[in-house]
Amino acid sequence: MARILVTAPQLPEALDLLTVTHEVIGGQEFMTRDEIASYIGGVDAILSALSDPLDAEMISLAGPGLKIIAQCAAGFNNIDVAAAKQRGIQVSTTPGVLHEATADTAFMLMLMVTRRAGEAERWVRDHKPWRYSHTFMLGTGLQGAQLGIIGLGQIGEAMGRRAAVLGMDVVYSSRSDKDLSAIDGVNPDTAPTRRVELGELLETSDVVSLHCPLTPETRHIIDAAALAQMKDTAFLVNTARGACVDEAALVDALNSGSIAGAGLDVYEDEPTINPALYEMDNVVLLPHIGSATRQTRWMMSKLAIDNITDVLAGRPARTAL
Ligand code: GLV
Repeated sequence: MARILVTAPQLPEALDLLTVTHEVIGGQEFMTRDEIASYIGGVDAILSALSDPLDAEMISLAGPGLKIIAQCAAGFNNIDVAAAKQRGIQVSTTPGVLHEATADTAFMLMLMVTRRAGEAERWVRDHKPWRYSHTFMLGTGLQGAQLGIIGLGQIGEAMGRRAAVLGMDVVYSSRSDKDLSAIDGVNPDTAPTRRVELGELLETSDVVSLHCPLTPETRHIIDAAALAQMKDTAFLVNTARGACVDEAALVDALNSGSIAGAGLDVYEDEPTINPALYEMDNVVLLPHIGSATRQTRWMMSKLAIDNITDVLAGRPARTAL
């Protein structure tokens, strides 16, 4: 019976699936670094979460039995993949199952911030006086506006599809021309195909939405200079990783009115949020719920468990990095 470390709360049905054939440790509470460190020497697999600090030092504590870190997320910036691979530990993620739900969240944030939905809802809940008025709570319409997608993977493509249905013009930036047919699940016939340089994207888009992974190159890709390039009527949406945006610079840009608003699901130092953001009515704040639908979370759990099963049976993980 293999020992599986589950580092964060999991769906009961996922735990049931694992415990049929394995001994499961954890699974109830978010584990601290010290707790993970105390277990990592004696387990065969880790079902990990995106906040687990699986850096080189932690991976050096792995026992000889550890064969796979199965990350239950698309992003993996918390894992030192090279250090894991060097020790023969496979690392897998859960692509292909969460992009639609995450694009829904980005789309929702775009609509919420441009149509002032958070602010309007707070107004009603605060019992502030209102009645239908031609001039009340006017937002920004998006038909004919331009969406700039930074990072065209599965989630960016799904966001582009949604925006196109709304009547938006969609452009994207990436470091190189994308061979869209090479991105799993992307339909080149419907994907945005107009690639522009990042500078042009920032200068010309009405909404800028981040869909890139967090890497050394994309850390603070939206910094003070990038924010200054955006139109003062433009909105920023981030469902990628908080550290893709310099949060202090974002606060300055919002304070000075150099951009019009922001819809955020992720933060630089989660779950801490820059206190100034709470006070801004032109900012929508969500608690990192990008892929949080029951259906998607089950598909993510199932795929991560399938990866563990594969590797423990001597096969490569089906979505290995
Ligand atoms: C969520 O942020 C993920 O990476 O899956």
